[in-house]
Amino acid sequence: MQMVIKSVIGWVDARFPLTKLWNDHLARYYAPKNFNFWYYFGSLALFVLANQIITGIWLTMNYTPTAEGAFDSIEYIMREVPWGWLLRYLHSTGASFFFIVVYLHMFRGMLYGSYKKPRELVWLLGMFIFLCLMAEAFLGYLLPWGNMSFWGAQVITSLFGAIPFIGDSLVEWIRGDYNVTGVTLNRFFSLHVIAVPLAFIGLVAFHILALHEVGSNNPDGVEIKKQTNADGIPLDGIPFHPYYTVKDLMGLAAFLFIFCSVVFFAPEMWGHFLEYPNFEPADPLKTPSHIAPVWYMTPYYAILRAIPNKLMGVIMMGASIGVWFLLPWLDRSPVKSIRYRGIYYKTALTLFVICFITLGYLGSHPPTPVLLLMARIGTLVYFSFFLLMPIYTTFDKDKPVPDRLSRA
Ligand code: HEM
Repeated sequence: MQMVIKSVIGWVDARFPLTKLWNDHLARYYAPKNFNFWYYFGSLALFVLANQIITGIWLTMNYTPTAEGAFDSIEYIMREVPWGWLLRYLHSTGASFFFIVVYLHMFRGMLYGSYKKPRELVWLLGMFIFLCLMAEAFLGYLLPWGNMSFWGAQVITSLFGAIPFIGDSLVEWIRGDYNVTGVTLNRFFSLHVIAVPLAFIGLVAFHILALHEVGSNNPDGVEIKKQTNADGIPLDGIPFHPYYTVKDLMGLAAFLFIFCSVVFFAPEMWGHFLEYPNFEPADPLKTPSHIAPVWYMTPYYAILRAIPNKLMGVIMMGASIGVWFLLPWLDRSPVKSIRYRGIYYKTALTLFVICFITLGYLGSHPPTPVLLLMARIGTLVYFSFFLLMPIYTTFDKDKPVPDRLSRA
């Protein structure tokens, strides 16, 4: 049997770089031996992506992308299609978990300076993935054609109307109609199931290729490629397979416990993962008393509402995401990992996390004068974290970084 497998692999290898790919990216890809908890989220993001694509394919088999049929087809999937409820909950819960995993993955980057030279492109590609993720979530949210789907799309598409001169025509062009209608639903469906996922998969492939070109960073922020043995293998590196494939499987098992608990016991997450107004069909004559996006968009929504002028609000909301792209160049510290950073960066990062979570809370609540004031302060802290970074990272009192991994 082994001989047969060997000869089949040999046959394929003579025509396609199968073993070469396996070695380059797994068996002989040397990763730092000190990966910790924070390093689970890349492979978990891959897992959630696969979950979204697979459950999405099966949902599409019974979903009707028309204004007349969409809401009922979701009910049909939930009640009549065998295991349809599970497919739908895996997909809707998967959307929220995708953001949880990706936010933690990005936070790891900020903890260990993974966006710094030579990984700027890994970060930029990650940011394009993040844009795809936001687009994919926004487009998908219209598909159940619930009342929040409708009004959410109405509010967000109308934001483009704030752009001078071309605004109104642009809104009409995006919607494909004078209002959000079945035409909008149909084009959002097509973008959600094919265009954005294609971009997604391509970007993820580039993201990992770029990372494997320069090698992974680690919790010490030490470049392991600088200390190699006679064969050029990093002294502090271990083959990704089997060491990290096994470790990541353990992370996956822990993740599945949490993920499945939500899927089976709290898929609506008390209105945070599936919002209550979305259990009513879209009704252009009935505006929900409070329109708010799903939790993962609320920090940016809070920034949008914090600015009194509509156009400026839209610009600031765009900037709040755009500024992440600049991170590799805003951070002037020679040190990567938080372990060796000074007090300024540590304080700034802590404040940023508090501010991001607070903005998320504010964006999901109706704006009272006090909450609005808090959102304005939050917006100020949010942008200060990025824009003052060149200053506080230059003057920070960083500690000396060791030549080799410290805790291996
Ligand atoms: C679908 C979304 C994504 C997937 C599937 C994905 C996948 C991965 C994988 C498998 C790794 C290597 C394992 C690891 O270091 O955890 C990685 C590393 C990395 N990713 Fe992502 N990623 C995604 C989104 C993002 C985003 C949104 C960003 C940030 C903008 C980002 C930034 C990074 C960085 C900087 C690294 C290198 C980390 C290091 O070496 O310390 N990724 N990604």
